[in-house]
Amino acid sequence: MIGSAHGPRIGITGLGTNVPAKVMTNDDMAAFVDTSDAWIQERTGIRERRIATQEEALSDIALPAVREALAEAGADPSEIDLVICATVTPDMLFPTTSALMADILGMRNAAAYDLLAGCTGFMYAVAQAYGMLASGLSKKALVVGGDLLSKILDWDDRSTLVLFGDGAGAVVMEQVTTGGFLGFELGADGGGGIHLCYPGSGSRHFDDPLSILKMNGREVFKFATRVMVSSAEAVLEECGKTIADIDVYVPHQANKRIIDYAVGKLGIPPERTVVNVDRFGNTSSGSIPLALADARAEGRLTDGALVLMTGMGAGLTWGSALIEWGGVSAAGTPREG
Ligand code: ACO
Repeated sequence: MIGSAHGPRIGITGLGTNVPAKVMTNDDMAAFVDTSDAWIQERTGIRERRIATQEEALSDIALPAVREALAEAGADPSEIDLVICATVTPDMLFPTTSALMADILGMRNAAAYDLLAGCTGFMYAVAQAYGMLASGLSKKALVVGGDLLSKILDWDDRSTLVLFGDGAGAVVMEQVTTGGFLGFELGADGGGGIHLCYPGSGSRHFDDPLSILKMNGREVFKFATRVMVSSAEAVLEECGKTIADIDVYVPHQANKRIIDYAVGKLGIPPERTVVNVDRFGNTSSGSIPLALADARAEGRLTDGALVLMTGMGAGLTWGSALIEWGGVSAAGTPREG
């Protein structure tokens, strides 16, 4: 699916993130699986990640991020009419984490549902919210991306364990006065889905006693390097932009080697690229909002900055979005288009 934006400008007016307090370093992991800080850093660029406690569920980690995003947007919970939470590790399948959070926050007027698209979930959710806002069906949307993959990992499998971490981010989306999303490209290849799967999680293998994530790292690596480039190029072409126009590149934070490959192949200067995989590992749906927040903290998300985001993950899925950062809520101003 590909398209460029027409009609009203839809942008991000609030951004918040949160990660569990507990830090787990590579050395901590080497204490219970056969790995080393040197191997992990060389193959992935990861130094440490955050891990939720046994008591913490996704909503516990995501709610502070949501509150921060709402505060930045100056949005009252009652104004939010759509909540989409992208995750593969909801508190439980139902009630959905979106509905639980909407209830806790007093979002009485909101439709709320969870969305499953692996690590690409945040990109899919943002595109969906865009569509609902652009059509006028929604006026103010909350998009949450977050995962506690530590809960579904095989803690004896060093080849997957070291890659992932826990975290969440949230954005408020609405009509804005300037800037906003320029376009999206989203795709899926269920044929490759077997390379990154969670078999015991649904009706096919509901009786599987081993409810854990399984991954063929090499196949996912090949897939990732391909789609990180093709998806970015596709959305740029669709929007009539080139790599030279990009001020900030926010790739999914899965592995530094995948990011380096994409940066090299796309020809994006490394200084325009956001990298925080060293501190958080792969937080799945939390990855892109966490990276956006780091870019903001570094003063890189200036008004008018052109930001390219690309995610990829289980499904297999991928997705890119192009946004001109900035703009304030257009609530109260006449509708364009
Ligand atoms: N510590 C030490 N050794 C290890 C570890 C570890 N943590 N993990 C694997 N090894 C060993 C392997 O057993 C293998 O040993 P062998 O040669 O004796 O058989 C050796 O290291 C090399 O293994 P490879 O799999 O070839 O290592 P590779 O260079 O491919 O790196 C990695 C593995 C990091 C998993 C890489 O393939 C990768 O990053 N793939 C992409 C994964 C990814 O991004 N997944 C997330 C997708 S997003 C989502 O939706 C969740």
